[in-house]
Amino acid sequence: MIATVRTAAALRAALAPWRREGLRIGFVPTMGALHRGHAALVEHALAACDRVVVSVFVNPTQFAPNEDFARYPRTEEADAALLDRVGAQVLYAPAVEEIYPPGDATRVTVAGLTEPMEGAIRPHFFTGVATVCARLFCHVQPDATFFGEKDYQQLLVVRRMARDLGLGVEVIGVPTVREPDGLALSSRNAYLSASERAAAPALHRVLQRVAAGLRDGASMATLAPEAMRALVHAGFTAPDYLDLREAETLAPLDRLDATPARLLVAARLGTTRLIDNIPVQRA
Ligand code: PAF
Repeated sequence: MIATVRTAAALRAALAPWRREGLRIGFVPTMGALHRGHAALVEHALAACDRVVVSVFVNPTQFAPNEDFARYPRTEEADAALLDRVGAQVLYAPAVEEIYPPGDATRVTVAGLTEPMEGAIRPHFFTGVATVCARLFCHVQPDATFFGEKDYQQLLVVRRMARDLGLGVEVIGVPTVREPDGLALSSRNAYLSASERAAAPALHRVLQRVAAGLRDGASMATLAPEAMRALVHAGFTAPDYLDLREAETLAPLDRLDATPARLLVAARLGTTRLIDNIPVQRA
């Protein structure tokens, strides 16, 4: 049976016997509304670690005032049941004051990797994510932590933050889990109406089409305009970005070269903003 703890002190007490035994502790941070994508993160963590802690915390500092903090789905009972089924041992579900104590004045900011794409559209976002992850890592003190590649830029930012701060946690990326029609699993998919849900897989289809063009030697300059038109035709707004980037540095690329690359997109369907990305490699 999964144990739910709500304070850093209770968490420390729960983990102390495992630390004494020298067990490897894995950590999966989430904002709840858990789905099969989160289950896959926990399964990867269980395969690589002796014990797994999952946090559920809807982090206020990564939402701008006009974003969906208030309506973000909160489903703790169902989340605990899913985590229990998958086999995680501890659910850490702190109150806001446990993570941001009254008078709190500290933020963690990562330069460079945070500037393009999500950082350009949502300037508050990565400082909120880096700050909450640094605090959660301090509370849990895991050996390894597991992040979905669906939020690829976030994965790189958290990895850099953990390395720069010397937190001693290995940040491991887990491949995106998709619906059979290609839509990447996301808690925000719950916002889609039936017709938007039917249109949503176009995002992944367009990525695959652009990736095929890139492998044939075409450039982003020639492929992107048609891809953007296809998204708009499918019902999306004009994408916030559709970028080819170096997989490690996120430096922009126009064509594939020998460097591992990632193709990333963000666009809105109605009021719901969806992001997706795939790896692309020269054939
Ligand atoms: O990806 C998420 O769910 C969140 O950004 C994270 C990493 C749990 C931080 O709040």
